[in-house]
Amino acid sequence: MTAPESLHVEQGRRSGQTIIVCVDSTVLGPALGGCRIKSYPSWRDGVEDAVRLSAAMTEKAALADLDHGGGKTVVALDPLSAGKLDGSPREELLHDIGDVVESFEGQYSTGPDVGSSPEDMTVIGERTQHVFCRPERVGGSGDSSAPTAAGVIASIQALRQHVLAGQPLAHTCFAVVGLGRVGRLVAEHLAAAGAQLIVSDIDPSRRELAERWHAHWLEPHKALLAEVDVLVPAAVGGIFTPAAVARLRCRAIVGPANNQLDADSTADLLHTRGITWAPDTVVSAGGIVAATARELHHRSNEETDRLLTGIGRRLGDILDEARQQDRSPLHTARRHAQRRLQHRSSP
Ligand code: PHE
Repeated sequence: MTAPESLHVEQGRRSGQTIIVCVDSTVLGPALGGCRIKSYPSWRDGVEDAVRLSAAMTEKAALADLDHGGGKTVVALDPLSAGKLDGSPREELLHDIGDVVESFEGQYSTGPDVGSSPEDMTVIGERTQHVFCRPERVGGSGDSSAPTAAGVIASIQALRQHVLAGQPLAHTCFAVVGLGRVGRLVAEHLAAAGAQLIVSDIDPSRRELAERWHAHWLEPHKALLAEVDVLVPAAVGGIFTPAAVARLRCRAIVGPANNQLDADSTADLLHTRGITWAPDTVVSAGGIVAATARELHHRSNEETDRLLTGIGRRLGDILDEARQQDRSPLHTARRHAQRRLQHRSSP
């Protein structure tokens, strides 16, 4: 992995929180990537996460054919304020973030991510205009969860054709791990289509969703290892380690969580075990695809929906090529992304 173009770490002037913005690449155009607000054991872990997540954004934008690079904001909350940052401390933090984003003079734009919402984007937007997904009533494209979920659903369709010979959803068993904003929409879609469904979240209060959908509830570590056709990781990353892969009992994996693999080599382990893994950089592109289409290119809802369906086609192409070459889809996706980046950076 090459070094990021720039890495900014500061203690927010108003909030005192550690704000990290990593711009991985602007080779294809201005960087974009969401704003993650969560607690980390130490701010150094936040820096590491920002570096990895922003590199994934570069690949995500390149694979989605966008003229954008990748970046990410990470606020590494001190463990004390974790979970209870609202009111004016939150506003101070969001203003601090806005100032940092503004200092990149348009070479980086932020958006919602784990721990931040479209409303938060409005407050960040008081300090910078380089922010996506403010609520529609204030002129943004709104919550990116629905288009992200649409991209995941298109990817599930592609994977169903590729791995399950088009087996109907109603005869297919899924485990959705993580019922945050995106995971919840995907699970809801699968439940409505009559799929057999296991759902899971670290927050036990979300168990009532399982009841509503007539789904089976399992603890996250059990859901990950459940015997299903398709596993849908929709929480935070790093869940597939060599030890976990050895114990998986699914046929395929397709989900929106960023950076699902602990290391690239884990993709080869999945491949060797015959488990088809859909690269998260392809599957989770719906948010940036829709936000740029609507806010920068003023595309209609129908045009945007077509672009989101295209995510499934792209995944299908990558899975086909990977199968032909008997390589992991990660390898194929990475090569596609690098080809675009190299093409642009050569004189
Ligand atoms: N969190 C999403 C991502 O990082 C959504 C996003 C949309 C981010 C638009 C930036 C801009 O992919």
